[in-house]
Amino acid sequence: MATEAARQAQDAPVQGRQRQAAPRPAQPAPSSADVPAPARQAKARAPSDRTPSGIYGLDELINGGFEKESTTLVMGDAGCGKTTFLAQFLYNGAIQYNEPSVLLSFEEPSASILKHMKRYGLDFAELEQKGLFSSINYRPHEVKKLVDEGGGLIWDTISSIGAKRLAIDSLTSYAMLFESLYQAREAELLLFELLRKWKCTTLLSAEGINTEKMRITTGMEYLSDGVVLLHHPRYQSGRYRAIEILKMRGCKHSEKLCPYEFVEGEGIRVHPGETIFYDVNEQE
Ligand SMILES: Nc1ncnc2c1ncn2[C@@H]1O[C@H](COP(=O)(O)OP(=O)(O)OP(=O)(O)O)[C@@H](O)[C@H]1O
Ligand SMILES: [Mg+2]
Repeated sequence: MATEAARQAQDAPVQGRQRQAAPRPAQPAPSSADVPAPARQAKARAPSDRTPSGIYGLDELINGGFEKESTTLVMGDAGCGKTTFLAQFLYNGAIQYNEPSVLLSFEEPSASILKHMKRYGLDFAELEQKGLFSSINYRPHEVKKLVDEGGGLIWDTISSIGAKRLAIDSLTSYAMLFESLYQAREAELLLFELLRKWKCTTLLSAEGINTEKMRITTGMEYLSDGVVLLHHPRYQSGRYRAIEILKMRGCKHSEKLCPYEFVEGEGIRVHPGETIFYDVNEQE
């Protein structure tokens, strides 16, 4: 009995994955234990029109990275890892590709984000000192004013460090400022126009995949050049994590759902070599 129970317990985490898909990275393991994990990853060789995320296992799903100066929406439910995803994109850009980056935070104070990210070895204070990073914390209504005025302080921050990467966390609260879908759509159009002018490769996070909140912000998926979904569904006795590239304009991207996990000292790690076979829409 005890052996059977132990066997079942051992089996439980892999019920959502194919058996042959052992939880191992699909890329070579980092070589030196002395260097902080994010810096240890081999600098990906990407086509010159791509902006690599530097997130372990992700870039091979999207043809080497995001298209330069494009805007990609990262969507998922609470705690699925949106903020971590955005932070790794910014940090890796600065540390591996010498691309200064800006974080515009609407909800969680940027100080709290940066503190949490330090646990993954992402030392944004150090980047800030080197002029490779800047964060801005605004309430959504303040951003609305700035967008109405053409970007003002946000653009000043981007241009002052020559930022090439921008992340906005999260767009949902911005879109929810507006009373009607029409007004929200108009405001989003205005924001996307500005993003194009700012010429950064941009990631935007948004809450929910099929939730009511997401329907309020309808339109963002169509305005964005790419959409990445972070699924975190309940399946039997636990929750599982899977990443899906829903769309990526001009790119033959992977259509496969791949598992991802949070790794201590690193952040999100994607496993492109593994397959998910549970239904991510099937919530119990
Ligand atoms: N040190 C850590 N090691 C492993 N996993 C962690 C660690 N810190 C946080 N996590 C995981 O990351 C999750 C939070 O990630 P993150 O804040 O990026 O999610 P989010 O989608 O932005 O959440 P929200 O919807 O609240 O903004 C936690 O719920 C936890 O599962
Ligand atoms: Mg978050």
